[in-house]
Amino acid sequence: MNPKLRVAVLVSGHGSNLQALIDASASPEYPAQIALVISNVPTAYALERARAAGLPTKVIDHRAFQVREDFEQALLDGLTEHRAELVCLAGFMRILSPGFLRMFRGQILNIHPSLLPAFPGLHAPKQALIHGVKITGCTVHFVDEATDNGPILVQAAVPVLPGDTEESLAARIQVEEHRIYPMAVRWVATQLVVREDRRTRVDAKPAIFGLSLLNPGS
Ligand code: GRF
Repeated sequence: MNPKLRVAVLVSGHGSNLQALIDASASPEYPAQIALVISNVPTAYALERARAAGLPTKVIDHRAFQVREDFEQALLDGLTEHRAELVCLAGFMRILSPGFLRMFRGQILNIHPSLLPAFPGLHAPKQALIHGVKITGCTVHFVDEATDNGPILVQAAVPVLPGDTEESLAARIQVEEHRIYPMAVRWVATQLVVREDRRTRVDAKPAIFGLSLLNPGS
């Protein structure tokens, strides 16, 4: 059996996506394992989830560093020490520098609560309500230098219902987040999806899907 892909999850808050990844990786056949959880917020509930699952954790508080380079060096040291092969941003509320991101090109994923390229940035469910869209959702994408911009791996759609509040819509979106993030990590771990220039390429593996996928990159 192939060794499991070593994943570092970077968090700042509640950590429900971390939990979804923890739950998925509890299955023996899941092709990835969480090697490290890093939080830049010492009080993040995500850290409790990680500890409860017996995972190695690191608090790297950005406020302890004068310059971003030093903060990122500490991140890098943690990732190296734990031999991380893939980084999953899961509600991580710090912008990473272009230099850092270039080092991990094709190895950092993010989840965002909208159907990108619609509503990048903060408060995506609120933006969806303000614009009156009828469908929104979530996106897992590779991270590049621009915010919420890299090649898309997978998206899931949810309806915007009459009477929705930001909270009710965000909660509906999160149900889908918890479904597609572990799925995207599985695809990367099994090399079913690889990053190409602007897009992702899906390598059809009929044994997994039971059908031939079209190549959306062509
Ligand atoms: C999610 O909505 C995710 O899309 C966004 O930040 C939120 C994190 O939630 N990037 P949680 O901490 O995983 O519960």
